[in-house]
Amino acid sequence: MNNKKLIKKFDKQANTYDRRREKQIQRKWREKLIEEAQGSVLEVAVGAGGNFPFYNREEIEKITAVDFSPEMLEKARVAAHQYHLPIEFVESDIDQLEFEENQFDTIVSTLSFCGYPQPLKTLENLSKWCKPMGQILLLEHGISSNFIFSTLQKVLDPLAVRTIGCHQNRDIMELISLSPIEIQKVEHHWLDVFHLVWAKPKNK
Ligand SMILES: C[S@@+](CC[C@H](N)C(=O)[O-])C[C@H]1O[C@@H](n2cnc3c(N)ncnc32)[C@H](O)[C@@H]1O
Repeated sequence: MNNKKLIKKFDKQANTYDRRREKQIQRKWREKLIEEAQGSVLEVAVGAGGNFPFYNREEIEKITAVDFSPEMLEKARVAAHQYHLPIEFVESDIDQLEFEENQFDTIVSTLSFCGYPQPLKTLENLSKWCKPMGQILLLEHGISSNFIFSTLQKVLDPLAVRTIGCHQNRDIMELISLSPIEIQKVEHHWLDVFHLVWAKPKNK
């Protein structure tokens, strides 16, 4: 699918993500993960700012927030004011970004690895952009370890990609294991569909 089509799909979902910010099912997971963010933060695929309520403002120097959907970014800009967060927004495809190596103290990604065309390459970039003693915080969803549910996910995958641009069948934990990212702590939820990962760059 070309990027223009994909961006349109996400643009159309911006209102939904905006409404959902305060009442979302992943609230308790986001809280736990995002409160750890500190220093100079990169949030990739920020969407409408679903994580903004959970940043600890005292600990944040600056957040660089990236997304390729202008409609999502518009909602996120309004939310950034609401939560008094120091954010610089960048409208870009994740694969076109060029940050310096070892630039960020914290890198955040939530519910975004279902959408990237080359998720392993993206994980490699996160590791590259993160400082050696920095942290990579992930909340991602993927294929369940439950046979019946994972079968359903595989069947629904083409439809989900077509309608919302989101793969259901990615093995997130396997992708991480193949990447230059070292897991410090991990939690799995809902038949292992959701993963909360506290990690750092490997071998830096
Ligand atoms: C499922 S939403 C999640 C939004 C937000 N991270 C959250 O947790 O609420 C996925 C987001 O990723 C963005 N996205 C998907 N592919 C992207 C890419 N290649 N480059 C930049 N942003 C992308 C979409 O525009 C959308 O805002």
